[in-house]
Amino acid sequence: MVQGSPFVVVANRLPVDEVSDDTPAARTTGGRRWRPSPGGLVTALHPVLVEHSGTWIGWSGSPGPAPEPFEVDGIKLVPVTLTHDDVERYYEGQSNSTIWPLYHDAVEPPIYRRRWRDAYREVNRRYAKAAAEVAAPGATVWIQDYQLQLVPAMLREMRPDLLIGFFLHIPFPPIELFMQQPQRTEVLRGLLGADLVGFQQRLAAQNFLRLAKHLLGTPYSGNVLEYEGRKVKADAFPISIDVGEMQRLADNPLVRERALKIRSELGDPKTVILGVDRLDYTKGIEHRLKAFRELLADGKLSVPESVMVQVATPSRERVEHYQALRVKVEREVGRINGDFGRVGVPAVHYLHQSYSRSELAALYCAADVMMVTPLRDGMNLVAKEYVAARAEHGGALVLSEFAGAAGELRQAFLCNPHDLDGVKEALMRAVNVDPHEARRRMSVMQRHLRRHDVAAWASDFLQTLAEIGNTTEIRA
Ligand code: ADP
Ligand code: F6P
Repeated sequence: MVQGSPFVVVANRLPVDEVSDDTPAARTTGGRRWRPSPGGLVTALHPVLVEHSGTWIGWSGSPGPAPEPFEVDGIKLVPVTLTHDDVERYYEGQSNSTIWPLYHDAVEPPIYRRRWRDAYREVNRRYAKAAAEVAAPGATVWIQDYQLQLVPAMLREMRPDLLIGFFLHIPFPPIELFMQQPQRTEVLRGLLGADLVGFQQRLAAQNFLRLAKHLLGTPYSGNVLEYEGRKVKADAFPISIDVGEMQRLADNPLVRERALKIRSELGDPKTVILGVDRLDYTKGIEHRLKAFRELLADGKLSVPESVMVQVATPSRERVEHYQALRVKVEREVGRINGDFGRVGVPAVHYLHQSYSRSELAALYCAADVMMVTPLRDGMNLVAKEYVAARAEHGGALVLSEFAGAAGELRQAFLCNPHDLDGVKEALMRAVNVDPHEARRRMSVMQRHLRRHDVAAWASDFLQTLAEIGNTTEIRA
């Protein structure tokens, strides 16, 4: 058992998933096979934990008894057990069929089940207990995301000595939507157990402050709430990426060579249009494909001069909304290729696979236009990764107004993903942008990212937390 850690991160998932086969990008530690787990949370927090040599509590991605604690890249990993029932009720049910759609503007209808709520509570308690066991006296514990909203209050009750931060990686909905949740008061009280509650955007922090006043009558001034004799701060901390890592990858001659190879395998088209997303209904993949199809039909784009590559990372595959989405996306890809492809020359290259960081970097380097068109997204790190990978090579980013990243990457070609004509117009502007103008836009966005990378995000959050706790620094 790992004991007495001064800095603990608690997240639904560990940064690695246990795998049984020879999946690419898998590594072996202590006789077990692992590969990086999917999603922006892991991409962002992994470098932070490496720097702080912290402890990471989370699930290994497979149901059944948790493996013994182990170490990867200097991070102590403490696995939590999730049974088959827990996976079905807490993870697939309450987290990903209730809270996920509700917090993303209810773009799919949230489903409410009492037994999912009970499992959510029970599993949150398990994570809280694990944190209470490994945290040193006075330690800083940083709880992550919507799967663990009850943990802050539970942990505070078990260990009042701890400094507790919470960061929500996804949007926090306006009061009218949040109020749908039968568990609304419990969730709010759960979050108020933290000393600092962080959000991706200022509007989300405002939603939270107003909600606390509305639901519990909790007074606030500025962004500080007075709750049960304590101060709870709520603020925006827009998350970012390890910009240096992506730039190094993109500068690597092997990656550049691979990018050229990708373009040649695609038939050396004039324009490569890329999408990289978890296969999730919030990401607007269908809307984007439809915009591409209509531009081909209108004759504004044509194959083989323009091709689209859509990477759709497998995600939450047992959840119904996701199964339905996969069918719809694959049908649309088939339709486009049927109508506009030729033997050996598809219009859309659809890849339902996970890739290594270097292969992703090569894809970013190979793409003239990157399409990031979520219907709603807390931040969207793919947009930031593309910008970081472009160095002085230009390229154009088409970005949804409803991604948190749109608040920072103002030189992207912004669009409303619900407005198909608007998406088509933004895509055509990106395809036809003058190369000099493209480089100018990219370099402004790169300058922004260099100043606001993931290290800056973490230190901003942790310093704010330390100030609240009257502690000067994280003892790493
Ligand atoms: P989310 O957190 O909703 O998945 P983000 O865009 O914020 O969305 O983060 C996704 C992260 O997952 C990025 O760091 C991206 O590089 C990574 N990623 C996406 N698709 C793949 C893939 N097919 N293989 C490996 N990593 C991927
Ligand atoms: O914030 C987005 C997020 O839900 C993270 O919490 C999670 O790690 C990632 O996306 C991937 O989702 P999942 O862990 O359900 O595969």
